[in-house]
Amino acid sequence: MQTLSNKKILLGITGGIAAYKSAELVRLLIKAGAEVRVVMTPSAQEFVQPLTYQALSGHRVYVDLFDAEADSAMDHIELARWCDLLLVAPASADFLGKMNAGYADNLLLTLCLAAKQSVAVAPAMNQQMWANPATQENVKQLAARQVIVWGPAEGEQACGDVGAGRMLEAAQLLDNVQRHFSPGRLEGVNLLLTAGPTREAIDPVRYISNRSSGKMGYAIAEAAMRQGASVTLVSGPVSLAAPAGARLISVESAQQMLDAVMQQASEADVFVACAAVSDYRVDQAAQQKIKKSDAAMSLKLVLNDDILATVSALERRPFCVGFAAETQDVEQYALAKMEQKNLDMIAANRVGDGSGFETDFNQLEVFWRAGRQTIEHAGKAEVAKQLIDLIAERYTASLA
Ligand code: PMT
Repeated sequence: MQTLSNKKILLGITGGIAAYKSAELVRLLIKAGAEVRVVMTPSAQEFVQPLTYQALSGHRVYVDLFDAEADSAMDHIELARWCDLLLVAPASADFLGKMNAGYADNLLLTLCLAAKQSVAVAPAMNQQMWANPATQENVKQLAARQVIVWGPAEGEQACGDVGAGRMLEAAQLLDNVQRHFSPGRLEGVNLLLTAGPTREAIDPVRYISNRSSGKMGYAIAEAAMRQGASVTLVSGPVSLAAPAGARLISVESAQQMLDAVMQQASEADVFVACAAVSDYRVDQAAQQKIKKSDAAMSLKLVLNDDILATVSALERRPFCVGFAAETQDVEQYALAKMEQKNLDMIAANRVGDGSGFETDFNQLEVFWRAGRQTIEHAGKAEVAKQLIDLIAERYTASLA
């Protein structure tokens, strides 16, 4: 879909290895209907030739101030006025520092000063440079002056380090640009989410757990971010990559999940409990590995606190959405859980037949106080999208 038709994007590229990702970004922006012009700093040209972006954008690439002045059709002030959004991606530490200080010693910095429209930056640098208080201070001050900051993401870096500092992927930046022009239904909403299983220790090497893969919860995190929500994901142990842009808090046991959720709950507007939390834990987990013997053994299990019920009982509580995985009498059990846990909404999934735990598919029967809706059997990404649409609708209605 041409979601960016009639939109003019001025893409600024600074010196960094992530500059190669911006070639893909130009392609995606154009595919989405945007008109794209590219400006490069002198050091950006050390990484990628201007010709690359010229070929992709179909327009000459602006590389220096006097070059732009010489182009009577578009001097630097006109270039700044021309765009609906000036996006600097990648934005290096050096560039952010100069931008914050108001320097104008290259064309892109001049444009940032001259732009009246929105300016966004996608930082990209070594994790240590990103963590440095000087960079953090620069970014904080830029954000305070309404510069939009997208990213960075965490992960492996070109230099071999691991941490925060990677530029967001081109597809994520495209998502952000699209959302910038048509804000999502959960813009400004803090959404707290649990996902995956918990592990209850028996001894240092054994535990009780369940078959939750985290796929449903992680898909909900992605769908919520696509609608503009700030997502905090409290996740049990899963083998999925952290959804880029979400704040991930990794936990193991139900008690750790409860503690993490309660630390975040006061900030949350919406709480979605998708995790398959163990109802019980071993009363006294052994400190040493339990040795096999000929005798039968039994474990004493004690009840875990219910995380969802604890959140929904808070005086200032978020909009609470529960899940119910059932093998039979889905509606009856789901409605009973909504009542017992005092929820605003519950999403019931019949497990089995290729839905629910572990699989890539699900189907939901969603109930709220005055209604219900079926989300038909589909991939978890599609199910999550429809569920988030419904949550956005009911949450907004609850504020009226
Ligand atoms: O992770 P996947 O493989 O993608 O699978 C997804 C899923 C099937 C795990 C998910 O869609 C789902 O249904 N999660 C809820 C599982 C369940 O059976 O929950 P429950 O009936 O035990 O609990 C009901 C609700 O209370 C749930 O929202 C649960 O997160 C919450 N709960 C339960 C116990 C507890 N101690 N604390 C809780 O917050």
